[in-house]
Amino acid sequence: MATMVRELCLILDFGSQYTQLIARRVRELKVYSEIHPFDFPLEKIRAMAPRAIVLSGGPSSCYDADAPAVSSELFQLGVPILGICYGVQLMAKLLGGEVRPSSQREYGRAHVQIRGQSELFHGFHDAERLAVWMSHGDRVDRLPEGFRLIGETHNAPAAAIADEAHQIYGVQFHPEVAHTPRGGEILGNFLFRIAGFSPSWTMASFIDQSIAELRAKIGSGRVVLGLSGGVDSSVTAALLQRAIGERLTCIFVDNGLLRSGERSGVEALFRDAFRADLRVVDAEARFLGALEGVTEPEQKRKIIGRTFIEVFEEEAHHIGSVDFLGQGTLYPDVIESVSHRGPSATIKSHHNVGGLPERMKLGLVEPLRELFKDEVRELGAELALPHHVLWRQPFPGPGLAVRCLGSISKQRLDILRAAEAIIDEEIRAAGLYDSIWQSFGVLLPVRSVGVMGDQRTYAETLCLRAVHSKDGMTADWVPLPYDLLGTISRRVVNEVRGINRVVYDITSKPPGTIEWE
Ligand code: XMP
Repeated sequence: MATMVRELCLILDFGSQYTQLIARRVRELKVYSEIHPFDFPLEKIRAMAPRAIVLSGGPSSCYDADAPAVSSELFQLGVPILGICYGVQLMAKLLGGEVRPSSQREYGRAHVQIRGQSELFHGFHDAERLAVWMSHGDRVDRLPEGFRLIGETHNAPAAAIADEAHQIYGVQFHPEVAHTPRGGEILGNFLFRIAGFSPSWTMASFIDQSIAELRAKIGSGRVVLGLSGGVDSSVTAALLQRAIGERLTCIFVDNGLLRSGERSGVEALFRDAFRADLRVVDAEARFLGALEGVTEPEQKRKIIGRTFIEVFEEEAHHIGSVDFLGQGTLYPDVIESVSHRGPSATIKSHHNVGGLPERMKLGLVEPLRELFKDEVRELGAELALPHHVLWRQPFPGPGLAVRCLGSISKQRLDILRAAEAIIDEEIRAAGLYDSIWQSFGVLLPVRSVGVMGDQRTYAETLCLRAVHSKDGMTADWVPLPYDLLGTISRRVVNEVRGINRVVYDITSKPPGTIEWE
C-alpha cells in the first residue's frame, strides 16, 4: 500500500518491553508513530523524513560487547530526538558523555526533581518532584558537550538531559508507562512543543486516507474476505465495503463450531444492515465429518485449518474472478521489532489463513496493518459497527472444537453451546463481560455420578474458565464472586441436559494456556 503523506514519529526499538507502549502513547496524542528495529538503515530513515525520533529503552548495557547501537549520524539529521532509558544512555555515550553502572540499580517507583526550565518539562516548575517509573542498571555520569541537566534523582543524577540547540533530549525514566502519571504531558511536550507536530492522527482522518489508498490499489478489482464475526475481520469488512462497495465479497464459513447466535448475528449485521455481498457457507457436516473420532488437540487444529482453506477456496471460485484477499492483520503482528516475540504460536498451531494468498494467487489488502487493537475499535465505531461487535471477547479460530475435549459430535457441541450461552448471559448480567479478557466453558469428557430429584445421573463435566489478560500472552484466572459461580453452576446443571457437574479452572497462564487445547 502506498505510504500516506503524514507526519511520522519514528521509534527505534532497542528491545524494551515497553516499546509498543511508547507507540501507543504517541498515537493517543494523535501523532502517527511506527516502530522499527534499532538497526533500521539510516538511508531509510532519511527517506521516511520523520518529524521526530524516539530511542526506546532496552535490556542491554551500552558497554556490552553486542549492545544494540545506532550510527552517531542519527544525531546529525536535524530531527528532534528523545532517548528513553537505554536510549538516553546510548545517546550520551555516542555523543561523548560517560555512562557507568549505577551503584544501586533502580527498578520501580522513584521521584525526579526538575532542574530549571525546559521545553520538555513545560508546565512543571523548577524543583518540582515528579513521580516516575525507573528501570535501569546504568546511569549517565558525565553529560556530553552541549547538554545540560534538567532533572535528577538520588541514584541517577542525570535523570533528564537536554541539548536544546540540537533538540536532543533524554530521560532515564519511562514516560510511557502508567506509573509515570504525568508521562503523557512530557511526551506531548516533546511532540508538540519541541518537534512541532500537529495532533492530526485520528480515525476519521485514517478512514479518508485509507479509502483513497484502497481505491487506488484495488482499482476495478474484486476483493474476497473471510469474515469470522470477530473485531478485526468485521472492521476490515466495514472499511472495504465503504471503499469499494459491492466489489467486496465476504465469506462466512459456518464450520459447526460456532457459538449460539453467531451466524445469525453476522448475517443480520453484514447482509441486512451493511448490505454487503455476504456468502454463508454451511460446512458443518464437512467439518464434523473430518473431525470424527479425532481427540488429539493438534490434529484437530490442523484438520480445521486445512478444511477451512478448502471450503474458502471453493466458495471463492464461485464468485468468479477475484483479485485480492482482504485480511484483518494488525500492527502488532507486523512490527519487526527486537522485543516482539510471541511464543504461543509454537505451543499451538494457530488457525489462520496465512497460506491463502499464495495458494490462490491473490494480492493482499490489509487495511488495518498500521493499527493497534484499540485503534481498530475506534475505527469500527467511526464506521458504525455496534459496541457488542467491537468489544466482544476473543474467540479462537478453531472455535468450540478446542473447548470440546475428547471426540467432537454435534450432540456434545450443542451441550457446550447451551452451557456457554448461560455463562455469557450471567457474566454480562453481572456487568463483568467487558472487564474480563475471556470467559467460557470447556466440556470435559469426564463423567460422574449425580442426583437430580430422585434420579441418578451419570453425565459429563463443564469446566468454567475466566481470565484477565492484556494480550493473551499471559493471563490470570479471575476470582469470580461466589454467588455468580453458584448461579452459573446451578443454571448449567438444571438447564443443560448432558452436564451434571461444574468445576472452576484456577490456573493462570503460564503454566496453563487460556484454551484447554
Ligand atoms: P492460548 O490458549 O494459547 O490462547 O493461551 C491465547 C489466545 O489466543 C486465542 N487462540 C486463538 N486465536 N486462532 C486464533 O485466532 C487460534 O487458533 C487460537 N487458539 C487460541 C485464545 O482464545 C486466547 O485468546
